[in-house]
Amino acid sequence: MEDDKDIRDQVLSTEQMIEGNSEWYERTKDFWIKSPATVSGMLGALPHVAPPDEKDSLNYLKGMYRHRATPMTGTIALDIGAGIGRVTEKVLLKCFTKVDIHDQNQNFLNKAWGRLSSYVKSGRLRNKFASPLQDFTPPEKEYDLIWIQWVIGYLPSMDLIRCLNRMKAALKPGKGVIVIKENCARDEEIIDNDDNYIIRSVENWTKIFNKSELHVVSARRDESLPKSIMPVYFFLLSPNDDSVDDDESEIPMKEMKKSKAKMQELKMRKEKSQTKKERKRKYDDDEKCEDEIEEDEEDEENEEEEEEEEVKVGQKKDK
Ligand SMILES: C[S@@+](CC[C@H](N)C(=O)[O-])C[C@H]1O[C@@H](n2cnc3c(N)ncnc32)[C@H](O)[C@@H]1O
Repeated sequence: MEDDKDIRDQVLSTEQMIEGNSEWYERTKDFWIKSPATVSGMLGALPHVAPPDEKDSLNYLKGMYRHRATPMTGTIALDIGAGIGRVTEKVLLKCFTKVDIHDQNQNFLNKAWGRLSSYVKSGRLRNKFASPLQDFTPPEKEYDLIWIQWVIGYLPSMDLIRCLNRMKAALKPGKGVIVIKENCARDEEIIDNDDNYIIRSVENWTKIFNKSELHVVSARRDESLPKSIMPVYFFLLSPNDDSVDDDESEIPMKEMKKSKAKMQELKMRKEKSQTKKERKRKYDDDEKCEDEIEEDEEDEENEEEEEEEEVKVGQKKDK
């Protein structure tokens, strides 16, 4: 395991001096204690962002699980940094049978419990975990999906890497995934000192996710959000792409696997043709060797023809 400094040097530029200490986290906590427990409060006084955000997130999940009727039987999701349960209500409960919510602000969680009391009664809204994300350990091997929106910017990179490792352990083996929806800087990181929120570039987010040994299956911008706000990206993360089962729902993973296989095939073909070219180059001045190569190739073709002939003969015999 690389030490903290190595990772920080690779991942960060402006963030190098930040340590996730109590002082750092107090500022965030105070900011949110003073924020109203409303949709507008959750979205920095930009409530008009909510409808397009929720619609595109729902479309994103429906695209991911496209052959399955929703809410999907037997599935459980966890909403991290859920606040008053805006995403839980408008997105996760539409797709998953059960949802657990997490936030460090008890007041927001209570508000969610009250607003969504019918789901609490039916048992579909199951647990509320009040805990700082930097310390939170969710139950192991529990979730089909962990949704993390507009909250990981509060964690300096080392705490974030450790946190993602704990999230990884909370996924159902072989099929659980993490979706992160987060602001992305157009170039350099930006730190908002009002609430100690770090906006990293897509490249740096990806580096951090990879450090947590999570595989970035896809990253795409939410184009439906107003252009006046920071670019917001969906990152789909999987513990490892081989561990995903072949369920029809896992379309992005399947596509990833297919394109990986294709890349592998292209690489092999390239290597093969390079070896031939190298051989030709090596013996460029030597016509005799050129002839040898051509003879080799002819031999290969003849062998293939002979093999085909043998197969045909074998088939006739079988008849
Ligand atoms: C911008 S709001 C997003 C809420 C929700 N994800 C949404 O999209 O509506 C950020 C939330 O993160 C929570 N939060 C901030 N820092 C946190 C931390 N260190 N641990 C847990 N929750 C935190 C805040 O209490 C707040 O509810």
